[in-house]
Amino acid sequence: MLSKVQKIIIKDTEEYVFQLLKDDASGHDWWHIDRVRKLAKNIAENELEDINLFVCEMAALLHDVADGKLNNTEAEGEKKVRNWLSQYRLTKKESQQIMEIILHLSYKGGTNKVVLSSIEGRIVQDADRLDAMGAIGIARTMAYSGSKNRLIHDPAKKARDHLTIEEYRSGEDTAIMHFYEKLLRLKNEMNTTVGEQLAEKRHSYMEDYLKEFYAEWDGER
Ligand code: ADP
Ligand code: NI
Repeated sequence: MLSKVQKIIIKDTEEYVFQLLKDDASGHDWWHIDRVRKLAKNIAENELEDINLFVCEMAALLHDVADGKLNNTEAEGEKKVRNWLSQYRLTKKESQQIMEIILHLSYKGGTNKVVLSSIEGRIVQDADRLDAMGAIGIARTMAYSGSKNRLIHDPAKKARDHLTIEEYRSGEDTAIMHFYEKLLRLKNEMNTTVGEQLAEKRHSYMEDYLKEFYAEWDGER
């Protein structure tokens, strides 16, 4: 249960993040944050461990604020979040946990392999990854690709599951390639049981989508 003060801090933070991200079209818009926050709550409520729901929700709300893509430097992003948190009287442990989660998620995206030390962090990470999967994940991938002027699909480019870092940086990949680079791998990277169950469903939806996509691509009626 959240205390009255915690609820006020969350409301306040919600407004702050909304104002910061409402016009972002790089995949970190406010609605991504809102979905991640809801998913994190859903996972937290269904996990058996004792979870600090305040830390979970605050980290989910702030998880993209320090992102390198949204700040001139990573240090600047970090400072933004630290300043925001410092106006409240949080316990040292709580602010440390929130910061750890945010920095971990913001700087390394979905590519890191280090497991977060807190259950709250593992939950927010699952929620963030789940939002890159399923119907929403497909929409975000297409939107991201379009924003970079990339193709939806290029049959000459074999969809491989491993790109070299140079290929990745060259931005030559298509939206469909992103499924193999990232989206289809996420199912095996879930931290929590509830996350795993949700990922299963979203994963098979993406597999069905790809099957249908290739069939239509080849002219099937
Ligand atoms: P987040 O930080 O929320 O995990 P990212 O910044 O990694 O998200 O990416 C934002 C969205 O854009 C995600 O849905 C992700 O799958 C998608 N995306 C990231 N890189 C690519 C890419 N190279 N091609 C297509 N979609 C991408
Ligand atoms: Ni995110």
